[in-house]
Amino acid sequence: MVSRALDVVLLGPPGAGKGTQAQRLALAYGLLRLSTGDMLWEEVEKGTELGLQVRSWLNDGDLVPDHVMSRILLARLHSQQGIGGCAYDGYPRTEHQAMLLDGLLAELNRRVDFAVYLEVPDQELLDRLAGRLSCPVCGAVYHLKSGAPAVAGRCDHCGGALVQRDDDREDVARERLRVYRKRTAPLLDLYRSRGVLRELDGTGTPAEVYERVREAMRRKR
Ligand code: AP5
Ligand code: MG
Repeated sequence: MVSRALDVVLLGPPGAGKGTQAQRLALAYGLLRLSTGDMLWEEVEKGTELGLQVRSWLNDGDLVPDHVMSRILLARLHSQQGIGGCAYDGYPRTEHQAMLLDGLLAELNRRVDFAVYLEVPDQELLDRLAGRLSCPVCGAVYHLKSGAPAVAGRCDHCGGALVQRDDDREDVARERLRVYRKRTAPLLDLYRSRGVLRELDGTGTPAEVYERVREAMRRKR
């Protein structure tokens, strides 16, 4: 039997755990994890022309314009097909992006199977971002208090040197939250109307949240 590709969109405010859960899903289901935030920060780190162009949007906590984001995503999808399906971490973030993703998947005879929304209270979001450490090499995320790496400052998976993101400063984090509510939260209605939205409690340990994600993906609605 040929198994069908699985395409899962992770939705939620900054710090909700999209990256953490996308990484688990990708490992468990053999999915390609596509984190548009990581892609953008990579460009900034490498100092490419694109990185210089997007840096101020990232540092201000604003969204990168749709046409720029689409160009980056298309280039990545062309180089890494994601045949078994993808965990989309941070994409789509606007209605325009949701439509573009629908079109790309339709060409492959695929669709968004699940949109998983992780709900977390604002204060917890800000605490999570304040203590986050990220691996710029493989994209793994840690937390200084609740999920520290085995060796301080080093990634458990690839040994990369962990960094704190510039946009995790409290003032920028609050702006990202505001932008999320205005620009991205409306997508919940879109996926709800299609019956693919799974709204989950994003609090508890990452393992507990992951169990909820798996259970929700077994449900019909
Ligand atoms: P992006 O990197 O996607 O940032 P975000 O959406 O703000 O989300 P975060 O990465 O901050 O949080 P997360 O939900 O992934 O949480 P994580 O798992 O890391 O985007 C950055 C910027 O890029 C945007 O502001 C925008 O400028 C631009 N951008 C990106 N995509 C774009 C697009 N499509 N269009 C336009 N612009 C775009 O967890 C956070 C912390 O909490 C970690 O420390 C983790 O260890 C910890 N944690 C996770 N789960 C738990 C748990 N259950 N309990 C306790 N701690 C936990
Ligand atoms: Mg993330």
